[in-house]
Amino acid sequence: MLEVTDLHSYYGDAHVLQGVSLKVAPGEIVALLGRNGMGKTTTIRSIMNLRDPVVRSGDITFHGQRLNDLRPHDIAKRKIALVPQGRRLFPSLTVVEHLTMLKSASARDGWTVERVLATFPRLAERRQHRGNQLSGGERQMLAVGRALMIDPELVLMDEPSEGLAPVMVQHLEGVIASLRKEGLGILLVEQNLYSALALADRIYLIETGRIVHHGTAAELQADPASLQKYLGVH
Ligand SMILES: Nc1ncnc2c1ncn2[C@@H]1O[C@H](COP(=O)(O)OP(=O)(O)O)[C@@H](O)[C@H]1O
Ligand SMILES: [Mg+2]
Repeated sequence: MLEVTDLHSYYGDAHVLQGVSLKVAPGEIVALLGRNGMGKTTTIRSIMNLRDPVVRSGDITFHGQRLNDLRPHDIAKRKIALVPQGRRLFPSLTVVEHLTMLKSASARDGWTVERVLATFPRLAERRQHRGNQLSGGERQMLAVGRALMIDPELVLMDEPSEGLAPVMVQHLEGVIASLRKEGLGILLVEQNLYSALALADRIYLIETGRIVHHGTAAELQADPASLQKYLGVH
């Protein structure tokens, strides 16, 4: 479904992605793991064409159609949703306003406000709260819920478990697993190895802008040398 081939991305003259290739199929959770500053967010932003960074070479295709040079808005229309790192929300908009802003009033299929609130009961309790009144966990759930409102086929999630309490991480993992069951593809960027191992079908490791390891979650678990070298995990 998503195919990224030999991507080179730059911030000004800084050559940050130096040949990233990866694939995500429908119904597949693919994790992109790596330490801080290795190029995970840059990969996600390159796919969404959120300049900066600027993609200078490489191909990004979705169902075989090239995405390079489309505007982020048009990429979202192809049903690719982004859950950005740091949960960018509007401080003065309520939970329900965040969820309705992207949905045309006439759209009746797929994800609705009610379905998002049923998926995240905590948000239902907070439906009239504003962005700046939500806890970190509630913000992350709202960021995921908002992404679902475009009825995505592919969701790009940038460190969704960052800063969440363990019980919230578990709940979010359950939601992500249920999205896979519905056939969505998910590109999950994580520093949290355990969350990635619990969820991902396949894992890519990134180190200074290059994919240095690729395999199933089981293969990575059986490879302590790579875990140590690229993630600093014993
Ligand atoms: N807006 C920017 N301008 C210049 N350099 C950046 C910018 N954003 C990130 N970088 C650099 O690009 C590299 C990769 O960053 P990033 O993709 O955010 O890493 P990760 O998400 O893996 O922590 C880092 O060296 C970072 O300093
Ligand atoms: Mg990042």
